[in-house]
Amino acid sequence: MEKFILYNPVKLHFGKGVTQKLGKYAPDYGKKALLIYGKGSVKKNGSYDQVIRSLSEAGIEIVEYAGIKPNPVVEDADRAADLGRSEGVDMIVAVGGGSVIDSAKYISLGIPAGHSCWDFATGKRKPAASLPLLGVLTIAATGSEMNMFGVIQSDKEKRKIGYGHPLMFPKHSFLDPSFTISVPADHTAYGIVDLVAHSLEGWFGDGEASLTDRFIVSILKEAVEYGPALIRKPADYRLRAKIMFAATMALNGLTSTGKKSGDWGVHAIGHCMSVLWDIPHGATLSIAFPAWMKLQKERIPERIDRLGREVFGTSGPGKAIEAFENFFSFLGSPLKISETGKGSGNTSQKELVEVMKINKAGGYVHELNEEDYSFLAKEMI
Ligand code: NZQ
Ligand code: ZN
Repeated sequence: MEKFILYNPVKLHFGKGVTQKLGKYAPDYGKKALLIYGKGSVKKNGSYDQVIRSLSEAGIEIVEYAGIKPNPVVEDADRAADLGRSEGVDMIVAVGGGSVIDSAKYISLGIPAGHSCWDFATGKRKPAASLPLLGVLTIAATGSEMNMFGVIQSDKEKRKIGYGHPLMFPKHSFLDPSFTISVPADHTAYGIVDLVAHSLEGWFGDGEASLTDRFIVSILKEAVEYGPALIRKPADYRLRAKIMFAATMALNGLTSTGKKSGDWGVHAIGHCMSVLWDIPHGATLSIAFPAWMKLQKERIPERIDRLGREVFGTSGPGKAIEAFENFFSFLGSPLKISETGKGSGNTSQKELVEVMKINKAGGYVHELNEEDYSFLAKEMI
């Protein structure tokens, strides 16, 4: 077992109606909030109304920044930070999915700093302060609601970067599974793939931590048992709750504790597809994870085999990979880029290799070289 520190200060509120409590906690952080959300789903699923009501009843003044896009771009975070600074807000309230909460994390650093949020992501400047962040999650996927990471993209530089700092932990996150009932089938599937991929990144990390491996397998079993059931019954609150809980647990520290790290190479590859073709995050992972496992099949056969045995009861690394492909396919998430209607052929393959080079895509444990990039690009197209 590796040495570790486990630190997670997020106060998580889970269950039907929890968002009504937002106004109880917000006054602890000041009087004026910058409310961040995406392209409008929050106005249809009831979360926006509940947030406005709860904050208003608590006497909190609200300034809004709407329009954060999936695979969020740094320009939005910078514009929202400028608005928050000029309005003198005391806190950020983020309502939406990973894209909104991640952007809010950068905005919370950007307001006191006064420079572009991109400088944090690239490591050019270190954060010294952040505004308090309260999150209301509307889609089960990333785990951003209970971690200190944020992923942001620069289309100009063709880079998508994940960065983390303890100042980026939300103070509170409110998770009402009933808000996720309106998530369409494709994004429901991508969210399940994402939580599976987070568990797998942990599994392929280095170091021996059997308890952590068992946590990982338990989360994967929840996804395998209840994910397909949810696709069949999207309005089932009980299933939405199970998947929402699993997604949060898959990236809040539980799946990496006692290991040297997770690998995160597959995420790095997935981000390249988002930069090039704006493919939703979870969809990039159902394409990249099987391809990556095929690349690693001869290098770490025992680890892939054991994963398959534990989760699907398969035998041999080939069967394990096949089981994951079938699972992702059943959910309705793509296995090839061409299925998304975006890249195809030799030109796309070359573009992808180039962007993987720019982003230095690779894992902490399993590094990738140019030959690997070519194998992966061919496999994924
Ligand atoms: O923009 P709106 O209208 O809100 O629509 C969103 C968006 O189109 C929609 N949606 C969200 N809740 C909904 C809903 N539609 C109907 N009903 C609801 N209740 O879903 C679409 C996707 O939203 P998005 O926030 O992009 O999804 P997700 O939560 O998967 O976030 C993806 C982003 O998070 C990053 C990804 O790279 C990607 O940029 N990640 C963040 C991580 C972290 N902070 O720890 C880790 C992850 O590995 C991931 O990289
Ligand atoms: Zn992810």
